[in-house]
Formats: sequence, C-alpha cells, structure tokens
Amino acid sequence: MRVLVTGGAGYIGSHTLVELLGQAHEVCVLDSFANAKPVVLDRVRSLTNGKISLVTGDVRDGSVLDDTMSDFAPDAVIHFAGLKAVGESSRQPVDYYDVNVSGTLALLRAMDRHGCKRIIFSSSATVYGEPEYLPYDEAHPTNPLSVYGRTKLMAEHVLTDWAAATPGASAVLLRYFNPVGAHASARMGEDPADYPNNLMPFIAQVAVGKRAQLQVFGDDYDTDDGTGERDYIHVVDLARAHVAALDHAAAISGARVFNIGTGQSYSVLQMVTAFRAASGHPIPLAIAPRRAGDIARMQADSTRARNELGWQATHSLDDMAASAWAWQRGNPDGYGD
Ligand code: NAD
Ligand code: UD1
Repeated sequence: MRVLVTGGAGYIGSHTLVELLGQAHEVCVLDSFANAKPVVLDRVRSLTNGKISLVTGDVRDGSVLDDTMSDFAPDAVIHFAGLKAVGESSRQPVDYYDVNVSGTLALLRAMDRHGCKRIIFSSSATVYGEPEYLPYDEAHPTNPLSVYGRTKLMAEHVLTDWAAATPGASAVLLRYFNPVGAHASARMGEDPADYPNNLMPFIAQVAVGKRAQLQVFGDDYDTDDGTGERDYIHVVDLARAHVAALDHAAAISGARVFNIGTGQSYSVLQMVTAFRAASGHPIPLAIAPRRAGDIARMQADSTRARNELGWQATHSLDDMAASAWAWQRGNPDGYGD
C-alpha cells in the first residue's frame, strides 16, 4: 500500500516506518518537525534501505495536504502528528485542540478531496480515565482527566462520525497504553525534547548520568508495592500493530477501536528493577508526592486486537528495559542537534 504517515519522524512514527518498509509498503512522511529531527529519517533509511518521501509541513495546512495527496496518492493514512504532553495541554488548551482536533479535521477534508478512505489514528488509553473495572476493554466508559485526553477523544468522535457518513470509509482507532523501549539496532529510540515527562525516559537519563535520581510519584497507591502500575508496551510491538491495522482498515467499513497493550501491568519499582538489571546502574530514587491526575493502575484487555487484528505483543519487560538502555547508552544526547 501507499501510506501517508503524518508525524512519521516522531518516536512511534519512526519505528512504524521501519515495520512498514519491512513489509514493502511505500511511505510518505508529513511532519512539521515540531517535536522531531530530520536525522531520524536517515536512520530509518539506513536500517531498511527503504525509500521515504518527505514533506515538511503542518497537518493543519490544507494546501500542503492537497499537494502531498496529489503527488503521492495514498491508499491509507496513519495519523501520528499531534501534541502529547499532558501538563502542557492544561496550560495551552487551544494549541492542543487546534493541532489534535483541527489537524484531524484538515486531514479528513483533504482525504475527502482526494478519495482516500482509510485512516489509522493514534489514540490513547488516557481516554478511559479513572477505571470502573480493570483491565479496561474497549467498552469501558470514556472520561479523560486531561485536556490532552479530551482532544484524543474528540478526534475519535470526529473519525467515527466521518467513517459512518462516508461510503466505503474505515477508521481504525488505536488506544495505546504506555509505549517504551527502542529499536533493536539502538539507532532509534525516544528522544524527549527537554525534561522527560514519562517514567522510562527519565529512568534512562538517570542511568546515563544526566539526572541524579528518579522521583517516584507516590508510594501509597492501592497497588502491590504502593507505586503506580501501567501496561508498558514495547514500541516495536506497537509499530507492528499499525501494520496489522492497515490490513484491517482495508477489510472493514466504519470505525473500530482497539486497545494496544500487553495485558500485564508493572509498578514504578518493577520498572526500576528491570532497568537496574539491564544497565547495571543503581538508579537512585526518592519517594515524592503523587502527581496530579495520576491513576493508580492501568491495564489493557487487548483480546479484540488479538482476535480481529491478529496482533499481540511479543516483547518482554526485559526487552523493553534492555533496548531503552542500549539506545540511551549509545545516544546519550538522543539524535543530537
Ligand atoms: P512524537 O512527539 O514523538 O511524534 C509526533 C510527531 O508529530 C513529531 O514528529 C512531531 O514533529 C509531529 N507533529 C507535531 N505537530 C505537528 C503538526 N501540527 N503537523 C505535522 N507534524 C506535527 O510523539 P509519539 O510519542 O511518537 O506519539 C505519536 C502519536 O501517538 C501522538 O498523536 C500521541 O498523542 C499519540 N500517543 C502517544 C503516546 C506516548 O506515550 N508516546 C501514548 C498514546 C498516544
Ligand atoms: C502519562 C500521561 C498520559 C499519557 C501517557 C503516555 C499524565 C498524568 N498522564 O501517563 O496521559 O497517555 O503518559 O504518554 O501525565 N512516574 C514517576 N516518576 C516520574 C515519571 C513517572 O514515578 O518521573 C510514575 C507515574 O506516577 C506513573 C508511572 O510512573 O505511575 C508512569 O508514568 P508516565 O510514564 O508519565 O505515564 P502515565 O502516567 O501512564
């Protein structure tokens, strides 16, 4: 297939490009480089010997989208482009709604103008909010606790309504749990712009000596060891879910939501233990107050993805820690300047 990948230079997008090229799909990346560096695409090229067309532009820009779709004529779009920092989303809500919701609308309008009828969308498990039961299945009520989460849910609604109203159209909405880890080559990985918001990149920066210690946000949750539990998923498993979703989008009409997780949850302290084993670094830590908006435990029921996409995660926690460490050790400054 010819696949337009918005945000393809980002963390999850770049790993997905490797999997798409590995399956002989043709790809075109549209990225503004708001949160990525062009060199990542050179790394993807060198790992795959694949050809990547690149358009540097904003997903909200209809004329850029028109030119891209005229030139490339995609069969399907994978839509990663978006803003993702939860804390920032509460300080800059208009920016978040604009990029995440208006960006999706602009993309759908362009797809309509060019007759492209399949889209895979990066949603998040954060749309569920406080669990009424666990593991979350796709029927769990949605009640996001952040602006970021509300932008994702709103985009899901837009895509669902578009797919219902557009004959022959399909939208596959992937609700990612917590993506971590890096490509096995250690040439690609997560490269947070400044201060890491998420656990795994923070631990990795402690291990490589960039940060003195990890702050553990709360040890009094109702979990086995009192620290927060999450369903961490290796980014390569997540990337492969997109390849499976492309095939599914070609087979269905309408919208379908899938949880993309492992079904297993690990605590902050279990993540630290795994990273200590992978890196040999002691990873000093201190217990800090709970972080506002955090949930005690999140865990996916990914039965639907297994049954309908034929996809399931294969990487272990040790694979996640070892690959994140290999990337961080080999690239202490990420992709550099
Ligand atoms: P990322 O920031 O690494 O990638 C996003 C990419 O989109 C970047 O390359 C950025 O330059 C680009 N971009 C941003 N705004 C743009 C715009 N207006 N026009 C064109 N390109 C633009 O993030 P990621 O971790 O790879 O996440 C990809 C998607 O998955 C995002 O939509 C994110 O919300 C979603 N998601 C991520 C996580 C996670 O933990 N990483 C979890 C759930 C969902
Ligand atoms: C965060 C976002 C969520 C987003 C997800 C993936 C919040 C409130 N939620 O979720 O919307 O979908 O990232 O991008 O920001 N932790 C520490 N110390 C740290 C960092 C994290 O103890 O320095 C703990 C957290 O309290 C949590 C766990 O580690 O228990 C995982 O945190 P994180 O990686 O930020 O992911 P989420 O909280 O799931």
